[in-house]
Amino acid sequence: MPKESKGISLDGNGQPLWLTLELTYRCPLKCPWCNNPLDFKDYAQRELSTEEWKRVLREGRALGALQLGFSGGEPLQRDDLEELVAYADQLGYYTNLITSGIGLSEERMSALKNAGLKQVQLSLQSTKAELTDELVGARAHARKLEAARLIKAYGFPMVMNMPVGRQNIDDIDAMCEFASGLGVEYIEFANLQYYNWALVNRDELMPTLEQVRAAEATVNRWREKLDGSMTIYFVIPDYYEGRPKACMNGWGAIHLTIAPDGVAMPCQEARTIPGLEFESVRDKPLSWLWHESPLFRKYRGLDWLPEPCSSCSEKEKDFGGCRCQAFLLTGDASNTDPACSRSPHHHLVQEAVGSVTRPLRFRKPLYKRASSAVSTAFMED
Ligand code: FES
Repeated sequence: MPKESKGISLDGNGQPLWLTLELTYRCPLKCPWCNNPLDFKDYAQRELSTEEWKRVLREGRALGALQLGFSGGEPLQRDDLEELVAYADQLGYYTNLITSGIGLSEERMSALKNAGLKQVQLSLQSTKAELTDELVGARAHARKLEAARLIKAYGFPMVMNMPVGRQNIDDIDAMCEFASGLGVEYIEFANLQYYNWALVNRDELMPTLEQVRAAEATVNRWREKLDGSMTIYFVIPDYYEGRPKACMNGWGAIHLTIAPDGVAMPCQEARTIPGLEFESVRDKPLSWLWHESPLFRKYRGLDWLPEPCSSCSEKEKDFGGCRCQAFLLTGDASNTDPACSRSPHHHLVQEAVGSVTRPLRFRKPLYKRASSAVSTAFMED
């Protein structure tokens, strides 16, 4: 029998309730934790056209998708964003813009309002201009604040998203103060997930356990103080928890992501896993990609789970964790996510957070450029 939650099938035989369109990987910022592929520049010439995106939107609705995120890169880099939002609104989607705020002029804000956009998620890295600009590799802070002001002035429900790492985690208190003063409805302290660029820079970005605990206490203080007037999301990073996250609510369960070149994926990172076949909406109907493609069926449901997951009482809660993280840390996406304390590879995560003391080991970089070189390159170009 399908597993039901509030009447929604979460077993992978159901609908792709969350559709995310990564309209482009282009972005004016240089965040060193970006979850776009390391070779993102190779995709710029292969972006779907306006008409191709509209076909994706029609096919997505026919599949049952309701929640729609326009993401990137920076989706405002696409001149047809307003046209796509209007088209999605006519089809009955609840539309959400996920933006850095760079490029969000009053003219575009007004056009997006008229197009029927329902919600905006704005990323803000800190309350301090110098720190924000340093973290994103551009003079962005003042423009982000202006975007925040515009979003509220135009009456949008707003999610303030703060990607949290070692450099800015101590600014959470000030960020709560700022967001509540602005009238933000939701604030998400998104502890960084270590894929792609964030994995390259993991050693530099990982907060200490003491920082994470202090941040959690700060968030709890603000939750009490605000008494529900602003919803605060803060989840302890899986590296510290000993439990894996139920990534994407399970592979191919309710999330469907379309990359700029039309490749349909169960999550934004899936293309990091070698040996899987990635197919595009240019070549196959979305319905086939979701229901039938080997990619979506590969880790869908519970039958494929390895030990110790398959005999674990938590398996219906976490589905063995994240496939991409399992691959990136162990070299095999079929392994239990090493974030789980029961994983035979859990030591990899413990070593990364410094809770295991070992002699210094020198290793080859995972990617061609070493982490410190990448950080430096961001600030220099
Ligand atoms: Fe791909 Fe978790 S990010 S399954």
